[in-house]
Amino acid sequence: MFSKADRYSTIPHIMYLNQNSLKEDILSLKKEKNVTFLAHYYEDGEIQDLADKVGDSFFLAKEGQKSESQIILLAGVVFMAESVKILNPTKKVIVPDLDAGCSLVKESPYEDYLKWRRQHPTGIAVTYINSSAEVKAISDVIVTSSNAAAIIDSIPKDRPILFGPDKNLGSFLSKKLNREMILWPGSCEVHILFSAKKLYELSLQYPKAVVLAHPECDPAVLQYAHVIGSTSRLLEEVEKNPATQFIVATEPGILHQMKKSRHDNVELIEAPQEGSCGCNNCPYMKMNTLEKIKNALLTETPEIKMDSDLINRASISLQRMMDITSGKPVTWPDRFT
Ligand code: 13P
Ligand code: SF4
Repeated sequence: MFSKADRYSTIPHIMYLNQNSLKEDILSLKKEKNVTFLAHYYEDGEIQDLADKVGDSFFLAKEGQKSESQIILLAGVVFMAESVKILNPTKKVIVPDLDAGCSLVKESPYEDYLKWRRQHPTGIAVTYINSSAEVKAISDVIVTSSNAAAIIDSIPKDRPILFGPDKNLGSFLSKKLNREMILWPGSCEVHILFSAKKLYELSLQYPKAVVLAHPECDPAVLQYAHVIGSTSRLLEEVEKNPATQFIVATEPGILHQMKKSRHDNVELIEAPQEGSCGCNNCPYMKMNTLEKIKNALLTETPEIKMDSDLINRASISLQRMMDITSGKPVTWPDRFT
């Protein structure tokens, strides 16, 4: 029997050993089964460090499409894994947790989106990758926050644009590109909680800090940002900007790579949210754990399964994103049928 004092000194040690053996198991299963392991920047640092590649949603879609491994494991949220499956359908795509959704997917149900789409039949439906496969299948082109501006710029100026499901990203792009858009009223439950008032006060406290924000934040928050961009764009700013203080208005998983990218004592300050909820962690991204990753590798489940008709229909808008971003010419349908 352990005394109380022994228990307190021993349990953290056992947990540490367990975590280490979990990580070793993950690495050896990944190697044995020749799995490509992709992770998003919002995952816990220890998950990011085990992955073959870490990146933003556009990067993960590209890496997934070109992967030659028979099994691809994606630690992120389910729409990201679905995009990989759609772009590389002969591969087995597995995830740690099938419940790792996204509030933007929830806020854009297929039937409602279809009705909206039918109300504007001559419009081009530009859809954020944070959407269901069904919604992608009734869209003309998919975008992420790292490629949206260039893609929208390539759309003929006389075509109306329907943008969804994130209204904040849509209004940011509409102002930036000086282009009118019909916006779907969805938002990210994490990014809308950043407080503009508290961010303003914080920036007065740290007058030299560079304020970085993801475009899913409310426009009132974005007005205080020096740099607005995708997770990879915000990371790039920390890598390249010699400033030593940054206020970061996005999910804090990204701080892991930001810290790793600098060898000096850079100060990364998390932007404050409304109230005192401390809820800037994405609850869906954070459903993924080392235990679930090991289990996914062992059992090769849960697997992303979609019928081939849905894959074919959703691949048109996703492939158009890939083509435009790689400089290939594309054509646009005259109307939605
Ligand atoms: P990125 O494409 O910038 O990685 O963003 C994905 C996302 O879900 C942001 O909340
Ligand atoms: Fe979705 Fe927001 Fe989580 Fe990104 S941070 S996956 S947009 S809920």
